[in-house]
Amino acid sequence: MNQEEFFKKITAHAKEYGFVFPSSDIYDGLSAVYDYGQNGVELKNNIRQYWWKAMVQMHENIVGVDAAIFMHPTVWKASGHVDAFNDPMIDNKDSKKRYRADVLVEDHIAKIEDKINKEVEKAKKRFGDAFDKEQFVSTNARVLGYKQEIEDISHRLYAAMENNDLAGIKQLIEDLGIVCPISGSRNWTDVRQFNLMFATQMGSLAEGANEIYLRPETAQGIFVNYLNIQKTGRMKVPFGIAQTGKAFRNEIVARQFIFRMREFEQMEMQFFVRPGTELEWFKHWKEERLRWHLSLGIPAEKYRYHDHEKLAHYANAATDIEFEFPFGFKELEGIHSRTDFDLSSHSKFSGKKLQYFDPETNESYVPYVIETSIGLDRMFLAMLSHAYTEEKLEDGSERVVMKFPAALAPYKVAILPLVKKDGLPEKAREIMEQLTPDFMCQYEEKDSIGKRYRRQDAIGTPLCVTIDNQTLEDNTVTVRDRDTMEQIRVNADELYTIIRNKIAPKKI
Ligand code: GAP
Repeated sequence: MNQEEFFKKITAHAKEYGFVFPSSDIYDGLSAVYDYGQNGVELKNNIRQYWWKAMVQMHENIVGVDAAIFMHPTVWKASGHVDAFNDPMIDNKDSKKRYRADVLVEDHIAKIEDKINKEVEKAKKRFGDAFDKEQFVSTNARVLGYKQEIEDISHRLYAAMENNDLAGIKQLIEDLGIVCPISGSRNWTDVRQFNLMFATQMGSLAEGANEIYLRPETAQGIFVNYLNIQKTGRMKVPFGIAQTGKAFRNEIVARQFIFRMREFEQMEMQFFVRPGTELEWFKHWKEERLRWHLSLGIPAEKYRYHDHEKLAHYANAATDIEFEFPFGFKELEGIHSRTDFDLSSHSKFSGKKLQYFDPETNESYVPYVIETSIGLDRMFLAMLSHAYTEEKLEDGSERVVMKFPAALAPYKVAILPLVKKDGLPEKAREIMEQLTPDFMCQYEEKDSIGKRYRRQDAIGTPLCVTIDNQTLEDNTVTVRDRDTMEQIRVNADELYTIIRNKIAPKKI
């Protein structure tokens, strides 16, 4: 199965099993907006809680905040979003389709990368076991030519982006002969800047309505509450403020399911530190955040760092944690050393001193900030694509099993009476009642036990507990493991400990 087919299967499975639906589905959906169904909402809540626990509960010096989505319009002036939260867009005059100009160029680069991969595959077949990939890509003339081509294009693109040279980006698109994927033509408009923030009106027109924005990131709700929280929580630098919540961006190219959405959720943490110590803390959070991902038991090869060479003017270090999605390695989380840019800018625009008096050094300063920022929906997609597995079983049948990390699975355990009679449903409900205060349980008595196991596999329930006639005699039950399908017989009183151990995070 190629990656495109695999991605289609994940999307279809997500809809069929109540994880993700297109928004307003009965009206044929709304572009790049999605709803989470009965299983999706549990998975999403579990991801959020797993993050909150690691960031807030496990750190004495990190506290939470829940700021409003609407904020004073000047916030977005101070943050730079009004002037600079833009993407360069270009329209094709024949298809009337709009594209992100930089993405057209990046897609072109991806095609050249594909050519390199094909050369590698060919050589691998030719040389067999003796093949040394590193040596091949650093010496083969054709591959070196492709690499040089990529470097030249990237250099022109990033220089044009940095200098806001829109004509330069258009020239690059023309020089590369990039055509519209729909019309196949090169009939392009000029490149223009497009601000990604959604604007709306607050107050009635009669009162003089103000234009306000739906927040494009949760981070600013943290910065504007810095002083409130530092003072009321008597927080001492270094300390952090965490927040999860909705963000909105009018993305020009919204694609790849829930990877790039117009309404999405972020989980962000701003860590305030003494100036001069920020690069140490940046390193700390870079490692700490990767550890969080690995604690879910996902193989390390699925992750990689992408350190930014070109930094935003306010940052002095930045990296992305990339995940291998079905469409390649892409950004899942960003870790940025943002200096004192945000607090200083809000100080300037609000006229309020956003400083910290450090009792250890007897001086006041504007703290520097390390930000960790992960998209909740993107993490959800990472988990969906990691979990989706098709297996052929020994008896020749097939199953689709969602191998979610047990801590994130929508339901932790399914309670299944073997038959719908002989007092088994009553006993099953009695066992379930003991577990529901602590774990999400699902009770199922319809259909054969085999069919019920398949349904639980498809939504990723790590454990199935079967109650049979022997249970009535000695209180033992069968526990079936989702991944190995192995079954063990245990006393029902042991279930709490078995489930607890199953969902405990891996120590990294
Ligand atoms: N406060 C910093 C910030 O917002 P960002 O790189 O623009 O930085 C952080 O976004 C994370 O939010 C990304 O790594 C990604 O996981 C998620 N994200 C950004 N735009 C998104 C979108 N349109 N749809 C879904 N997730 C998005």
